[in-house]
Amino acid sequence: MAFNLLQGKKGIIFGALNEQSIAWKVAQRAVQEGAEIVLSNAPIALRMGELNKLAEECNAPVIAADVTSNQDIENLLTKTQEHFNGGVDFILHSIGMSVNVRKNIPYPENNYDYTFKGFDISALSLHRILQLAMKQDVINEWGSVVALSYIAAQRYFPGYNDMADNKAVLESIARNFGYEYGLKKKVRVNTISQSPTRTTAGSGVKGFDGFIEFAEKMSPLGNADADQCADYVVTLFSDLTRMVTMQNLYHDGGFSYTGVTQAVIDQMGK
Ligand code: NAI
Repeated sequence: MAFNLLQGKKGIIFGALNEQSIAWKVAQRAVQEGAEIVLSNAPIALRMGELNKLAEECNAPVIAADVTSNQDIENLLTKTQEHFNGGVDFILHSIGMSVNVRKNIPYPENNYDYTFKGFDISALSLHRILQLAMKQDVINEWGSVVALSYIAAQRYFPGYNDMADNKAVLESIARNFGYEYGLKKKVRVNTISQSPTRTTAGSGVKGFDGFIEFAEKMSPLGNADADQCADYVVTLFSDLTRMVTMQNLYHDGGFSYTGVTQAVIDQMGK
């Protein structure tokens, strides 16, 4: 069901790789709600070709940008302004990658070259996008920026590795830049801390199926899926949440506030 929540709004969606991607669902949902969008991903992801399907469906241009490159982001922002003949009302940051996770290097043995790379892509990129957007005055007043996070920013989870540190910094950047951009132009910046979700990035975490099952048993409402995450993101892009900023918002079926559940205790006894 659509509610025209984003009628007349324009935005940039980073991070749609394939149909499983959270960003893919957000793009579809934003367009359903009346928005016009520009899609962006790293050049290597575009070469896979899947994004063209979404671009066609959403009638959206695709502009390549590696989020570790100032030049790429400046180019994306300039082309987006030209395309819309003006600024944007929302940006989705749905980007994450850890080389240490990919190469199965345990946290205590992390290779720092890999750590820096993952940090640059997964956390610093939010600062970079916001800094360049502010410089080029790309985001309209009362605009909304959302980045995706995970509860490993607050608590230990095996296998999440240095992505836990990246998410902690990501949430901190949302808070700090949220203040600066709010003061300057009433732009709000939040992170959504999402349930474990079966996507390309998610499945890279060792023992991910066990993770999903545990979280499901630990949440009174069960795990939130990617479509439900897209619904939530759309509300944050809409005018209904104008006074929400600098927050890390849990979208996890109640997982974050549950100590233990009978289902988990029963499992332990088996
Ligand atoms: P995904 O693999 O579909 O999306 C990750 C995206 O990051 C891909 O589109 C990839 O091309 C992009 N990316 C990687 N390096 C890049 C670079 N240098 N420049 C530009 N883009 C780059 O997976 P998913 O799960 O949709 O991930 C989206 C976000 O959601 C990530 O921040 C992830 O950490 C977060 N998240 C995912 C959860 C899960 O269980 N899947 C749970 C909580 C948060």
